[in-house]
Amino acid sequence: RELTLFEIVPLLPALQVHTSHECDVFTYLDLYHAIIGTSLYVKLLLYTRANLTCGQELSHHNLSAQPQFNLTKPTTFVVHGYRPTGAPPNWLNNIIEQLLARGDMNVLVVDWNRGAANINYLKVVTYSRDTADNLTAFIRNMQENGASLSSIHMIGLSLGAHITGFVGAKFNGKIGRITAVDPAGPQFNGKPPEDRLDPTDAQFVDVVHTDMDAFGFRKPLGHIDFYANGGADQPGCPLTILSGSGYFKCDHQRSVLLYLGSLNRTCNIRAFPCTSYTDFLDGLCMDCDQFKPAGCPVFGYDIIEWKDSLVPLQQTKAFFTTNKQTPYCKTSYWVDIVTWNHDTRWGYITIKLHNGSEVTEATINHKASSFKKYSETRLLAQFEKDLQKVHKISIKFSRVNAFKPKYKLRVLRIRLTHLERKDRSVFRHIFFPLKLLSKARSGLVGRNV
Ligand SMILES: *[C@@H]1O[C@H](CO)[C@@H](O)[C@H](O)[C@H]1NC(C)=O
Ligand SMILES: *[C@@H]1O[C@H](CO)[C@@H](O)[C@H](O)[C@H]1NC(C)=O
Ligand SMILES: *[C@@H]1O[C@H](CO)[C@@H](O)[C@H](O)[C@H]1NC(C)=O
Ligand SMILES: *[C@@H]1O[C@H](CO)[C@@H](O)[C@H](O)[C@H]1NC(C)=O
Ligand SMILES: *[C@@H]1O[C@H](CO)[C@@H](O)[C@H](O)[C@H]1NC(C)=O
Ligand SMILES: *[C@@H]1O[C@H](CO)[C@@H](O)[C@H](O)[C@H]1NC(C)=O
Repeated sequence: RELTLFEIVPLLPALQVHTSHECDVFTYLDLYHAIIGTSLYVKLLLYTRANLTCGQELSHHNLSAQPQFNLTKPTTFVVHGYRPTGAPPNWLNNIIEQLLARGDMNVLVVDWNRGAANINYLKVVTYSRDTADNLTAFIRNMQENGASLSSIHMIGLSLGAHITGFVGAKFNGKIGRITAVDPAGPQFNGKPPEDRLDPTDAQFVDVVHTDMDAFGFRKPLGHIDFYANGGADQPGCPLTILSGSGYFKCDHQRSVLLYLGSLNRTCNIRAFPCTSYTDFLDGLCMDCDQFKPAGCPVFGYDIIEWKDSLVPLQQTKAFFTTNKQTPYCKTSYWVDIVTWNHDTRWGYITIKLHNGSEVTEATINHKASSFKKYSETRLLAQFEKDLQKVHKISIKFSRVNAFKPKYKLRVLRIRLTHLERKDRSVFRHIFFPLKLLSKARSGLVGRNV
């Protein structure tokens, strides 16, 4: 029988890019493979500190064939998601390197590119179950060879997040940790727990959402779910298809960049447990007393340190905001303002901090704030940069309704408290009554107490 073109092409070997002839590498495919479709092949690539950049393909059935795979060490699986173009993920080397910088472990890249590269997303979703079954068999084999389930951490991206959930369910939640990086929404939103990731899938499940209105999952799936900038639209990403090619994937991919930034310690992002993003922006959820002495949970790789306080709470949603580019972390201050206006004033505030060479700005404009005579109004101000030695603060007050007559906000006292370094940098600025014209800007020179 003659094979048709559609049968022949998948049989051709995929183009392999070798960094050295002895290294095994992630399967390289292209759009052509995605269009004709690929059938599932699960390749396990081992990276260790002894061989940071050179992957070794593991046998699924004979673990002693690769002596570098040391089962007394912890193992971290990295599971990618849907690959509509067939190209290898561009964050792969980065995450391998950063994980091995954090700990002496086995990093296993689960390369299921043959399977994930298919323009037919529904087919790929069915392969995600098969990939999970394949990994389950492999982990059973690891167990038989002495590995403990507690020492296993699975990091799943997008569709990969649900794969890790399916694997975890097979082990009744005994796997140590699952991290879901913007878990996939399409075909999973609204599904019951057995058909998606859920908190019973591992001893600890942490999740970050960055694109819940498109490729990501909306509802909480873990013990802690971080919603970056509310979880839907990320700063710096194009808002319409007209404004750039990143439109389709920018929000989704931001989750990976945020996670890498936590792994390489570029950013220590505090997140605030809260019922909604709006409440968080309104400054209603700044109290992390329940997590004493650790304080508010830090997003990313180190959230495992909050495991014992988070697991009894069952499910926690936590929020934070970021900058539009790396470093993504913002610097948060409490702003406590006392005014002496006779009538209550409503408005939006922009605050600038100056340190002589640099300026950084925070705009608090999600909700008009109310300023009552002699009572303290507390706002959360998040600045792009963390300036050392602030010596000047300027404030701009804008009215709610630009058509009403102008009025002044008379500030009696303003205090800025750094959320991270309360002990080190509490600035108190006490002034003689000072007039802030609406829409006008005033420079306040304060003392550092
Ligand atoms: C790293 O991998 C290469 C290729 O398999 C191998 O030749 C080399 O011995 C490995 N290095 C170590 C330190 O195991
Ligand atoms: C997992 O997949 C690999 C390659 O696709 C295959 O060689 C292996 O036999 C599979 N494992 C099981 C338990 O089916
Ligand atoms: C497993 O691999 C080791 C080392 O390559 C080899 O000596 C052994 O015979 C293999 N076992 C089986 C069952 O294939
Ligand atoms: C495996 O790892 C353990 C713990 O790091 C170490 O003590 C042991 O020597 C390693 N075994 C091999 C064969 O390298
Ligand atoms: C850490 O990772 C982030 C995100 O990928 C990157 O932008 C940053 O340059 C990295 N920093 C270092 C010091 O490697
Ligand atoms: C202002 O803050 C930046 C960032 O912390 C710092 O690099 C710079 O040296 C500071 N400048 C002065 C004059 O303190």
